[in-house]
Amino acid sequence: MIYTDLAPGYRISRVIKGGWQLAGGHGAIDRSTSIADMFSFCDAGITTFDCADIYTGVEDMIGAFRADFRNRRGAEALSELKVHTKYVPNLDVLDNLTKRDVETAIDTSLTRLKTDRLDLVQFHWWHYETGDFLQVASWLTELKAAGKIRNIGGTNFDTARSLAMVDAGVPLVSLQVQYSLLDNRPSKKMVAAFAKAGIQLICYGSVAGGLLSDRWLGQPEIQEPHENRSLTKYKLMVDEFGGWDLFQSLLTTLRCIADRHDTDIATVASRAVLDRPGVAAVIVGARNRAHLSQNAQIAELALTRTDREEIAAVLAQANSIPGDVYTLERDRDGSHGSIMKYNLNKESA
Ligand SMILES: NC(=O)c1ccc[n+]([C@@H]2O[C@H](COP(=O)([O-])OP(=O)(O)OC[C@H]3O[C@@H](n4cnc5c(N)ncnc54)[C@H](OP(=O)(O)O)[C@@H]3O)[C@@H](O)[C@H]2O)c1
Repeated sequence: MIYTDLAPGYRISRVIKGGWQLAGGHGAIDRSTSIADMFSFCDAGITTFDCADIYTGVEDMIGAFRADFRNRRGAEALSELKVHTKYVPNLDVLDNLTKRDVETAIDTSLTRLKTDRLDLVQFHWWHYETGDFLQVASWLTELKAAGKIRNIGGTNFDTARSLAMVDAGVPLVSLQVQYSLLDNRPSKKMVAAFAKAGIQLICYGSVAGGLLSDRWLGQPEIQEPHENRSLTKYKLMVDEFGGWDLFQSLLTTLRCIADRHDTDIATVASRAVLDRPGVAAVIVGARNRAHLSQNAQIAELALTRTDREEIAAVLAQANSIPGDVYTLERDRDGSHGSIMKYNLNKESA
């Protein structure tokens, strides 16, 4: 595995285990198997996990894993494990959030994760025009000063709002965004602006919910109803990218590259994102350990100039996804926004 410092003295694995798939909507989850799988990820060097207050039951599962890990391997080994959560207040409450509400939500994550300090809290805000996200971000900064939060990140903010937080004194170390071979939005202006501001990207969607994998090479266009929520979400991104035929050209190109490196399409797709400027890590969603060995290989793969040129030749035919990061998703009546759930956080409801 390869590691990087997200902040001074704060080291994460550059491949992160994604936790959304354990929250339901992706098939049956067996809690004890999921916790046992977490040991396997750590043993493969994937020592950073992503979750959220709104991923039902997932903080709690990781908390149980932390306790088990500490018992078996001790506190020093546990300090290598980094758990990134999110603070995602419900859309319904954005207008009248108080500092106490924010602290209650953070305390709930601390309790579920069985820790006294959250490694990274990634802040999300559903609607810029409702409530005062800068005020709420400043309360998170106060909770960091109080020792409840080690690092503050954001998720799904656009470039201007991220920089507004920095200007307001929020010590933002990272932003979690969708960034993939299908979705170029961060490259438009965010990457350059963040290089100056010292904010690193943590990227989800690098395998597009599994669409960017060998499973879909040569397959006819998938039709609704899709087998899980990820496929619904990322099929929309394939449509934005340029449609199924162009997507198949991309898979074919990735397969040729994978052949040269004796690996698979998903590994190449994630590595290509990891190599982009400004990217600290990719988060790959994991329902179980089925794809663990490939996901660990992302760290080993060295793409060549020829590989990169071949990928670029396909991407040159693709549409540029409209807007900045998450602009499409913020249109709640649009195809991307209308599939989201805006009030999942029981703590702030
Ligand atoms: N901040 C946000 O708004 C946000 C949004 C989305 C996700 N996230 C975070 O980012 C994580 C990952 O993003 P994502 O949920 O969009 O999913 P993703 O990583 O794009 O896709 C994950 C799925 O792809 C398949 N897969 C993974 N590795 C594979 C491989 N090597 N070969 C073939 N298939 C593979 C698996 O599906 P099967 O098990 O079905 O094979 C897996 O569940 C989430 O778990 C979550 O922690 C954050």
